[in-house]
Amino acid sequence: MIKSILITGANGGLGKECARQLALMDETEKIYLACRNEARAKVAKLSLEESTGKSIFEIVLMDVSDINSVRSAVEGLSGPIDALVMNAGGMGGKNFFDKTVDGVIQIFAVNVLGHVVLAEELLKSKKLTNVAIYAGSEAARGVRKMGMKQPNLKTSSVNEFESICDGSFFGDKADPTVVYGPVKYIAALWMSSLARKHPGIRIVTISPGGTSGTDVMNDLPPLMQFMYNQIGLKLMPLFGLMHKLEVGAKRFVDVLHDKSFKSGIFYGSKKPVLTGPLVDQGTIFDDLSNETIQNNADEAIHNFIK
Ligand SMILES: NC(=O)c1ccc[n+]([C@@H]2O[C@H](COP(=O)([O-])OP(=O)(O)OC[C@H]3O[C@@H](n4cnc5c(N)ncnc54)[C@H](OP(=O)(O)O)[C@@H]3O)[C@@H](O)[C@H]2O)c1
Repeated sequence: MIKSILITGANGGLGKECARQLALMDETEKIYLACRNEARAKVAKLSLEESTGKSIFEIVLMDVSDINSVRSAVEGLSGPIDALVMNAGGMGGKNFFDKTVDGVIQIFAVNVLGHVVLAEELLKSKKLTNVAIYAGSEAARGVRKMGMKQPNLKTSSVNEFESICDGSFFGDKADPTVVYGPVKYIAALWMSSLARKHPGIRIVTISPGGTSGTDVMNDLPPLMQFMYNQIGLKLMPLFGLMHKLEVGAKRFVDVLHDKSFKSGIFYGSKKPVLTGPLVDQGTIFDDLSNETIQNNADEAIHNFIK
């Protein structure tokens, strides 16, 4: 039974829609909305209460790009949770390539570092009892139709993964759409490595697929945003590259509740689309299933956590 769930980035987009769908399930008793902005969280809570008729939502203030904020939120949690949805993330804001106090680029902090601390602190303190999912992206194995290349690492060594965390892998002129794929790639590798360390908990990466109705593209440079809004949103659904918000969030809900989605696997869309049935992404990009590469990514990330 999944009675209690904590969702990061729950005030909008996929996180909020996932909260809505879960709240409508009879067995759900409590949903923690883990958000960085209290005002936005309160608006979301009210809207979720109205749309579901349930009063089961509790706000947890947490900025996933700030390790201390994550740690104190975990300490403040009243009881254990059955499920964790690591959803907060995206392109990392306007300053996506700035370094944080931990020495990683902002886009990495938001998508990966805080979630690593969150999941591992919850597991260490036995506050997570059943399942953890991470919002991955097919960008991690490349999406040719979107101009996103498969991450091209030379050695897949700990050092090379560290260079993705601190941004040096990308040189001086980084573009968020180029950095995003390798960042989501490291996250999926870490999840698989974590799954091997915790056989009693189901730990799964799931991509929502190309999903409209979210703010994920709002931080892109103006020209890219214009192209996405004017052309992308119209054409992508026609080419199987985009589905509705409800469909993307349902992937999270399905993976949480269906144990046939196996621990340690990264599920996402079939090539070359971003919608439809789910497949193990390791069958598309072998490195995702390579335990040595998974462990190197895991070690690299931990070199930035003090
Ligand atoms: N939409 C897609 O097509 C797609 C495809 C593949 C994967 N994904 C992944 O799915 C996840 C959700 O994306 P989305 O499309 O729903 O985007 P979104 O509408 O931009 O929602 C992102 C959520 O994350 C929160 N967030 C961002 N930085 C945070 C931080 N430092 N601490 C706490 N919360 C933070 C945002 O809160 P604020 O309101 O405070 O900014 C917002 O609630 C992301 O991880 C994204 O990479 C999306």
